[in-house]
Amino acid sequence: MKEGESLTGSTLVRNIGELVTNSGSGPYRNANFAFAYENSVITWVGPESQSPKNCENIIDATGAAILPGFVDSHSHLIFAGQRSAEFAARMAGESYAAGGIRSTVAATRAATDAELRNNCAALVDEFHGAGITTFEIKSGYGLDVESEVRSLRIAREFTPETTFLGAHVVPTEFSGNTDAYVDLVCGEMLKAALPYARWIDVFCDRGAFTPEQARKILHAGMDAGLLVKLHANQIESIGGIEVACELGAVSVDHLTYTSDSELALLAEAGIVATLLPGVEFSTRSPYPDARRFIDAGVELALATDCNPGSSFTTSMQLVIALAVREMHFTVDQAVLAATLGGAKALARTDIGAIAVGMSADFVILTAPSIDFLAYRPGVPQIAHTYKAGKALTT
Ligand code: NIG
Ligand code: FE
Repeated sequence: MKEGESLTGSTLVRNIGELVTNSGSGPYRNANFAFAYENSVITWVGPESQSPKNCENIIDATGAAILPGFVDSHSHLIFAGQRSAEFAARMAGESYAAGGIRSTVAATRAATDAELRNNCAALVDEFHGAGITTFEIKSGYGLDVESEVRSLRIAREFTPETTFLGAHVVPTEFSGNTDAYVDLVCGEMLKAALPYARWIDVFCDRGAFTPEQARKILHAGMDAGLLVKLHANQIESIGGIEVACELGAVSVDHLTYTSDSELALLAEAGIVATLLPGVEFSTRSPYPDARRFIDAGVELALATDCNPGSSFTTSMQLVIALAVREMHFTVDQAVLAATLGGAKALARTDIGAIAVGMSADFVILTAPSIDFLAYRPGVPQIAHTYKAGKALTT
């Protein structure tokens, strides 16, 4: 099937090496399973021997593994320029600081709409090739009313999951005047961003915003009807998790440095912890241990955090490989976190599983098992990506 082509009538997907459904009470990987969909929605899943007989179309997976499309719940795709020199300096011994964000802000403000749109479109193509069928995009490299609104408006052309991150860092022109910037974010900027955003987020960390400032901004967003996310504990634990719990955030992201008592708070509040191993990789930071989160009863998501500073990757496969190798996820846990976990971090119940009623979003690998996602690091294993039953890749 060609890119963008949609099959009419019902489609049966069969001859699957192993099928990850993220639903039901059986094993995580199902052998000899098939599924069917019609009009973009999954209509049947079960043993291939019991397949519906009347499907108009057949997709033959030729023994390859199939899993739900990846859900990337955290990315920053609206920006201009790149920061490879900053990366190289880090690899030579510099440490990561929030301040690098300001250089991307300058480049983003100077870019035309077409440049931002084309840059984003190229990265979205990479996402699709990487098996990502749903993704979130944050603003946060505009940091003035007009540039933040423009970022969100362009992001909306690509995804309904858009996040207002006016509180990414304090822009240079407000240096020494953070309170005035916080007021701008909570007031005029939020109001202008609202028509284009579903979520609000704040970078609550050393060098960015304090928990008190985060509380004020997130509260304003919540009152205006936005759902809450938070960047916290990437550089240091400064109290962001307490604020996220107090406000009922859906997810807290990064969590490079998280204490046992903070994990207990996240578990108690039912907040999804979104881990971003591309950041630890690209900033040479210690990887958090997923076993601590799992033992504490915290639900996990994995995301790319694709951005030009701390994680310039669109490869969910790399994220999974790092999560398995460095964070002690099992392959099954990592795949679950990159699919259903991402869906939960986006408060979505229509994606993240191959089950009746779900959107027909799925990935066909080149390999017979999902182990290959981590077992063949650096070697793409995605053969085809389907969203709502349509092929996104050729
Ligand atoms: O999620 N940590 C804060 N924001 C981004 C990085 C932004 C940048 O360095 O440009 C992140 O890692
Ligand atoms: Fe981020």
